[in-house]
Amino acid sequence: MSANSGNSDVLLKLEGIHKWFGKVHALKGVDFEVNKGEVVGLVGDNGAGKSTLIKVISGYHRANEGRIFWEGNEVKLSSPKDSRALGVETLYQEQALAPHLSIARNVFMGREPSSTLGFMEKSTMNTESMAALASIGLHLRSPDVMVSTLSGGERQGVAIARAIHFEAKLVILDEPTIALSVKEVQEVLDFVQVGKEKGISVIFIAHNLYHVYSVADRIVVIAHGQELANMQTKDTTVDDISKIVVRGTLGEEV
Ligand SMILES: Nc1ncnc2c1ncn2[C@@H]1O[C@H](COP(=O)(O)OP(=O)(O)OP(=O)(O)O)[C@@H](O)[C@H]1O
Ligand SMILES: [Mg+2]
Repeated sequence: MSANSGNSDVLLKLEGIHKWFGKVHALKGVDFEVNKGEVVGLVGDNGAGKSTLIKVISGYHRANEGRIFWEGNEVKLSSPKDSRALGVETLYQEQALAPHLSIARNVFMGREPSSTLGFMEKSTMNTESMAALASIGLHLRSPDVMVSTLSGGERQGVAIARAIHFEAKLVILDEPTIALSVKEVQEVLDFVQVGKEKGISVIFIAHNLYHVYSVADRIVVIAHGQELANMQTKDTTVDDISKIVVRGTLGEEV
């Protein structure tokens, strides 16, 4: 690789991202990178700008300034559709799934295969959705089960299986472990691990630093719309990260 060809391991690169909401300067020139197959933990206090940053990546918000590169090419993300077309799947805790629909319908939501008559091919969806779940080690009773009857961890599993099935390159998880039991949290962390083994990159946001620490290869701390620290997980401790987050909240230098 020549010196100026860029790093081919980089999947996503943001440069100098600014976002204003009226007078609120939510992102103040953020640089952010995700490598292929890397799990990046994004942490910071309430209001730090984490969700805003990932919403810029998922095409939900447009940055006021800054550049976005995908696999080395500059891209404009004007809508969630643009981002999805690149292979970005964003899973929000509440919006990820439709509770009143079956597992199979949720896996295929918005991308249902259709026959020449336009009917959804139910048996295809049933078989493929179960296979997608099994691929991340989730064995549920039946594809017809309503998502509302699943546990929180199982729901996250369905959402992650969907991303894997449709070959997402980057999965963004905003607080996937919030309000889950200890066992369910472990399941979600295991699903992330399976995704990573399949070469999928993940951005993992959580307030619980132990959850982030146990799954991330690298941890980025943001405070007041700015990056405060960017560390390989192996070079740091939960205690160190916690101190940085607190100092960031207080507006002190790290
Ligand atoms: N749609 C919006 N309109 C106006 N202000 C917003 C909007 N979304 C976010 N903000 C503001 O931008 C800042 C960053 O918010 P953001 O949701 O990105 O924080 P966060 O790090 O995700 O926090 P939390 O951990 O609480 O989810 C906050 O000051 C917030 O009030
Ligand atoms: Mg948030």
